Amino acid sequence: MAGLDSKVKKVPLFKKCFSFKRAENLIQAGLFPYFREIQESEGPVVQIEGKKVIMAGSNNYLGLTTHPKVREAAIQAINKYGTSCSGSRFLTGTIDLHNQLEEELSGFLGKEAALVFSTGFQAGQGVISTLVGRGEYILADKDNHASLVAGHLISKSTGSHIIRYNHLNNDHLETHLRQLPADAGKLIISDGVFSTYGEIINLPEIIQLAKKYNAQVLVDDAHALGVIGESGRGTGHYFHQSHDVDLILCTFSKTLASIGGFVAGDKVVIDFIKHQSPAFIFSASPSPPNVAAALAALNILRNEPQRIQQLRFNADYVRKGLQELGFEVLNGETAIVPVIVPNEETAFKMWKILYEEENIFVNVFVPPAAPAGKAMLRNSFMATHATHHLNRVLEGYKKAGKKLNII
Ligand SMILES: Cc1ncc(COP(=O)(O)O)c(C=O)c1O
Repeated sequence: MAGLDSKVKKVPLFKKCFSFKRAENLIQAGLFPYFREIQESEGPVVQIEGKKVIMAGSNNYLGLTTHPKVREAAIQAINKYGTSCSGSRFLTGTIDLHNQLEEELSGFLGKEAALVFSTGFQAGQGVISTLVGRGEYILADKDNHASLVAGHLISKSTGSHIIRYNHLNNDHLETHLRQLPADAGKLIISDGVFSTYGEIINLPEIIQLAKKYNAQVLVDDAHALGVIGESGRGTGHYFHQSHDVDLILCTFSKTLASIGGFVAGDKVVIDFIKHQSPAFIFSASPSPPNVAAALAALNILRNEPQRIQQLRFNADYVRKGLQELGFEVLNGETAIVPVIVPNEETAFKMWKILYEEENIFVNVFVPPAAPAGKAMLRNSFMATHATHHLNRVLEGYKKAGKKLNII
């Protein structure tokens, strides 16, 4: 191995890999929170490295990954279709469940049509790069999710113009819109709920600007579906303006307890994407158990609205509790409860105390996952956390915060 290493070291392309020490340094210091192996999961409690810990960092918002009906649907789908479709939706990879899921998703969101992709990342990247081309404009919030940014960049390579407006700053958005040709294609793109801090966008203002300047609106509702809006229908429904959102992007990897993504909108637009998007056409379709699980989860979302209320209650309970303890926690209405800490070092130390001493697992967000100069512990809650889990999280934070002198 040593011989191979020294050979590889001489390759110019790989030099950066040898000088990349950030992860290794954290591992050596015992402060590395990433890639921890989960050995079992019941949802709110998981087993990591042989011990049970409270999971306070998952996006399994309604707790449906372990719901008996979701498990059973996935098993039945494997029994009926096998484990993979082994092909693109375009060719041999469409099963009846894909079409059923698309119909149900579009019906649920009140859109004419939907298109299911293999991941949410591919949906974001694929939809944007297919729709916005030469001479057209993307107006994107600076903090948009990486999958949207990937879409922006591919669009740019085909001749579109990218304008990134300051985070949540619709005045800045308007400053740009004002300068663009009235008849050019323009797409305003934003997360509906931002994944880091959990802020909800001011959609009515964005829609007003879109109408004034003849632009279309795309909202990524990954963290909004099942969380906000009437019956968990997301950002558009939260503001009762869903009909003015041209395209809704979403993932199955959070509320819908699976993996995959989709876009919903007008049929003619969805048909265009379906026949033109390389990310859709040149990738194998989501597997039968994944599609079946998402369908079952959607069904539960429709029929058990009390889960959405419980999720809101749980997140509010911890948000308020942490604020009362003296932590810097943003107000919010979503399942995301970020605790802001003074610097990266404190974030990693806090994580270590919470995990090793308090048996609580949360996420550490430092740049580039957090804005430059910021560090935080990103907590996210599930409808299936019981009050005793939440109280344990608060107790753990209290001890860790005191130990590090930040409360
Ligand atoms: C806002 C947002 N959009 C898109 C995605 C990508 O979804 P997926 O996990 O299905 O690739 C995520 C997931 O991290 C997300 O948070």
